[in-house]
Amino acid sequence: MLDFLGDLRRTHMCGVLRASDAGKKAVLMGWVNRRRDHGHLLFIDLRDRTGVTQVVFNTDRDAAVHEKAESLRNEYVIAVTGTVKLRDANTINPNMPSGEVELVAEELRILNESKLPPFLPGDTALTHEETRLKHRYIDLRRDVMQFNIETRHKVAKAIRDYLSAQGFFEIETPFMTRSTPEGARDYLVPSRVQPGTFYALPQSPQMFKQILMISGFDKYFQIVRCFRDEDLRADRQPEFTQIDLEMSYPQPDSVWGVVEGFLRAAFAAAGYEINPPFPRMDYDEAIRLYGIDKPDLRLPPFTDVRECLAAENVQELAINPNLPVIAIRIPKVGDLSRKERDDIKPMFHSKGGARVFEDFKRIANRYAATAEAVAKKLDAGEGDLIVLVAGAAQASCGENGAAFASHRKVTPQELAIYTSAGLLRLALAQKYAERHQCFQKGDFRFLWVTNFPMFEWDEAEQQWMAAHHPFTSPHEQDMKLLAEGVEALHDPLSPLSAVRALAYDVVLNGTELGSGSIRIHRRDVQSRIFRALGMNEEEAKARFGFFLEALDYGTPPHGGIALGLDRMVMILAGAESLREVIPFPKTARAVDLMVDAPTPVSEKQLKELGIAVKKPAGL
Ligand code: AMO
Repeated sequence: MLDFLGDLRRTHMCGVLRASDAGKKAVLMGWVNRRRDHGHLLFIDLRDRTGVTQVVFNTDRDAAVHEKAESLRNEYVIAVTGTVKLRDANTINPNMPSGEVELVAEELRILNESKLPPFLPGDTALTHEETRLKHRYIDLRRDVMQFNIETRHKVAKAIRDYLSAQGFFEIETPFMTRSTPEGARDYLVPSRVQPGTFYALPQSPQMFKQILMISGFDKYFQIVRCFRDEDLRADRQPEFTQIDLEMSYPQPDSVWGVVEGFLRAAFAAAGYEINPPFPRMDYDEAIRLYGIDKPDLRLPPFTDVRECLAAENVQELAINPNLPVIAIRIPKVGDLSRKERDDIKPMFHSKGGARVFEDFKRIANRYAATAEAVAKKLDAGEGDLIVLVAGAAQASCGENGAAFASHRKVTPQELAIYTSAGLLRLALAQKYAERHQCFQKGDFRFLWVTNFPMFEWDEAEQQWMAAHHPFTSPHEQDMKLLAEGVEALHDPLSPLSAVRALAYDVVLNGTELGSGSIRIHRRDVQSRIFRALGMNEEEAKARFGFFLEALDYGTPPHGGIALGLDRMVMILAGAESLREVIPFPKTARAVDLMVDAPTPVSEKQLKELGIAVKKPAGL
């Protein structure tokens, strides 16, 4: 028989009672976390979001209440009225904040029963993720999930408070809108009123926030859901949350200052102190030192050890002496076992003209002097792992390379070496450094990566694409290259390759946390960028007409950024996947297992929308 709550009121949360409360009357409400039956004594760990308190039912004290308590099972919801009592010294539980006290039950109301859940919130063994997601309401009761969601709340609140205090207005922008320029596929929403037409869910509020600058709001922010139909990974979800902001008349470092300010507040809210300003690094330098545009600064950069190699080494190893010989040092990870070597073998495949020498010991055996010089240059200690990446002898720095280099400072051959070495460094770091605890909890290494290239060559389409998005401003000094470049649109070595964008990323421990830029505010520059992207005026108008029109009406210089809130909380919570910090996430196949979405809809609904569904073959 269940009891009604009646007029009973909760006096304390389960996690708050301490020794100083001894003797007080308390009414606790929560879930039965665990029960232990010791004959005349029955113990219940009662749980709510603040923690657990032990409740004791004593048959000698009140046989009827004790008997009622015997019917309790895991996850029943109860209200207990009782008196807080100090525990005997030998039963104090130092692992529980309320471990010095217990509540001696005087009245028990069973407010609800629970079926036996597929797993218990207190289970330490990790349940299969599908089961967790299907029964997310149980999963969210687990301590770690409660902590993650609480952290998310605190972080978002700190950011909101900080930005509001800095004079930013939080302004909402529509979800039912038209395609935005972030480059993923859109989620579409059909219109019933105008059959055959569709809204697109925003991939970001990019155009709206720029329009808000044109409208005079000067400083905008929004903690906003974005939608992208793209291949999912651990750090990507189809709907995710951005901390999106835009400012009028900023220099890039005005935006950086704001971001550093709110990150300091957000990390403080989660219990960590960080110390801006963050270091800054040019994109080209990041590639040269780390082989990636989001370097993890917790590990040492590359070292070019070309000069340590004698001529005969170069010949025997079949490497190109004119290209960098990159040494990667991963501290304290020691030798690879045979199994580990096999596991990562695919990464060691020499590709794109890069040759990888993973077994430094072999080199050391054959070329002791060289190995010693390399180790010295790297300042390598006992047990550090060293891998060399060099250019293959046959890969030469030809004429094309030279032309590319004159614009970009890095030749394609060098780029191939840097990027292979970069990927390798990351993979090795992830696999080994974490296991060997080279990374310390709370070691947050932020970095601004700046001066990204404006364009990226799309090999499949044989044309240039916007590296960020098409509203990003080129560097004022690179306008000449842009003008020359639009005359060589289908050339991968066009001067367009050298145009730098006023774009920047904020990177944390090797993850891109956020991305932004100073925008184009002039119509003539915008037209030139569209031309460079192979879009003529008509196409540009068809895609972004309303926005281009708005640009014509006195657009102030402006710029901004967006950071991934989910990614930030994931790192703060030490989680491995965004699913651990999003209350109701989707699987890698973009499915919500709890509500079972997406689903087919009724014929009637489809008809109203003027939609006919063509069943994929095999269904
Ligand atoms: P961008 O596309 O780089 O820039 O996105 C900004 C940040 O949003 C996060 N993010 C994601 N997080 C989870 N799942 C995803 N699928 C996902 N996609 C992106 C990342 C990323 O750094 N409008 C521009 C910003 C600007 O220029 O102001 C934009 O959206 O942390």
